[in-house]
Amino acid sequence: MTTKTVAELLSQDVTLQDVTVKGWVRTFRANRFIALNDGSTINNMQCVVDFENFEETLLKRITTGAAIHVTGELVESQGRGQSVEIVVKSLEVLGDSDPETYPIQPKKHTLEFLRKNAHLRTRTNTFSAVMRLRSSLSFAIHKYFNENGFYYMHTPIVTGSDAEGAGEMFRVTGLDAKNPPLNEDGTVNYKEDFFGKETNLTVSGQLEAETYAMSLGKVYTFGPTFRAENSNTTRHLAEFWMIEPEVAFMDLTGNMDLAEDFMKSVLSYVLETNKEDLEFLDKRLQDIEKHLPQAERSPMNLIDKIKFVVDNNFKRVSYTEAIDILRNCKPNKKKKFNYIIEEWGADLQSEHERFLVEKHFKCPVILFDYPANIKAFYMRLNEDGKTVRAMDILFPGIGEMVGGSQREERLEVLKEKMKALDIPEEELWWYLDLRKYGTAVHSGFGLGFERLVMFATGMGNIRDVIPYPRTPQNAEF
Ligand code: 4AD
Ligand code: MG
Repeated sequence: MTTKTVAELLSQDVTLQDVTVKGWVRTFRANRFIALNDGSTINNMQCVVDFENFEETLLKRITTGAAIHVTGELVESQGRGQSVEIVVKSLEVLGDSDPETYPIQPKKHTLEFLRKNAHLRTRTNTFSAVMRLRSSLSFAIHKYFNENGFYYMHTPIVTGSDAEGAGEMFRVTGLDAKNPPLNEDGTVNYKEDFFGKETNLTVSGQLEAETYAMSLGKVYTFGPTFRAENSNTTRHLAEFWMIEPEVAFMDLTGNMDLAEDFMKSVLSYVLETNKEDLEFLDKRLQDIEKHLPQAERSPMNLIDKIKFVVDNNFKRVSYTEAIDILRNCKPNKKKKFNYIIEEWGADLQSEHERFLVEKHFKCPVILFDYPANIKAFYMRLNEDGKTVRAMDILFPGIGEMVGGSQREERLEVLKEKMKALDIPEEELWWYLDLRKYGTAVHSGFGLGFERLVMFATGMGNIRDVIPYPRTPQNAEF
């Protein structure tokens, strides 16, 4: 008899068969009903024990958290709440769990408490649902690109160029911290370091992805990226996963079309494949929001919000239009924003982005054509000489989900820009080569994977959508 998962057993309509399952006890009620979960679904398998047939010492070991092996007959359930249940014939405890100290008691725990017990938190419904969704979204991403002719490229994690300017970097070194080799002027001599130069953890795979786009055509990366910014917010991690497609001969409009189609596709995939997890998370959010004042409740529940994104066009708005809206909006005039928008050129803070998506447009918004001086050096300069072909996609409840652009493909313009920003040409000689040999219009974007998972699960803190979050002062597990 092969062991089946709970998901497999619940989806079968053949009953009256001998089955065997393994999983962890959620609860054991009235010395009779075991709720068993094995991670394959949000649903538990009810296992019914006739206590007269088992040793009391064995039944005492059926505690919350214990790993057990059950064999019995799958029958239509007598009780409500499940279609089938197992009438237990034999029972084996594979691993005991001390009910006195097991942290995941069958009651409500706070997210903070569960974060401290992140190694066990996927034994709860909320976190198992979130992590199954995370897995499905990853799969949907690879599926989308594979079906659309993209190659999956692995960009380096350790990088020797720190020119992207996306934020502070983490140094990678093999030198002895206490006694590093020094130059005559007292600075550390990185020529003696492992790579013979200063190296860091990457903040983005974009620049390397561009090199492959300019030969393979359509590529994407999906890997970990690292930023040593000290931003202790609910939307920032020091280690996060980013999806970065890069496409030759594609302009900014094509980039927006791609990003929109891509996000709709992966979200509609999970609407289909992860129904039960989404229904659970939807209900969870509604239970939380019941206790909030009306004004703070979200206008749509989770599943409707995802469907809304899948079914409606994103609103495309230029930075200049957005500034006009913001300058004249109530919170700006009444000085309710922390940063008052006074003139064109101001960098948008998350309060402004959220106003645009949540209050003004009430849908995902693609902002494009930003002022050149608040964006990265590689973005293509527009004919006006002051804006660049950048785009950010802003989502309700999240803020910035995607950042991307059409890349500067003109060698001289790019060189000038680098010079103005003190980026040494020697460091990016290979990047400049792309503009020397067969240059062409090309574009791409970066999607913060955890922000997508936040949107799809309704979780409010980015620490709760990645298995082991890395944030300032925290690298436990
Ligand atoms: O806007 P960013 O910095 O763009 C880039 O890195 C480009 N090189 C991407 C490209 O064009 N290929 O980052 C892209 C996205 C953001 O929109 C956000 O969703 C996410 O990455 N992100 C973070 N997510 C979690 N924690 C952080 N600290 C993040 N910083 C950026
Ligand atoms: Mg950005």
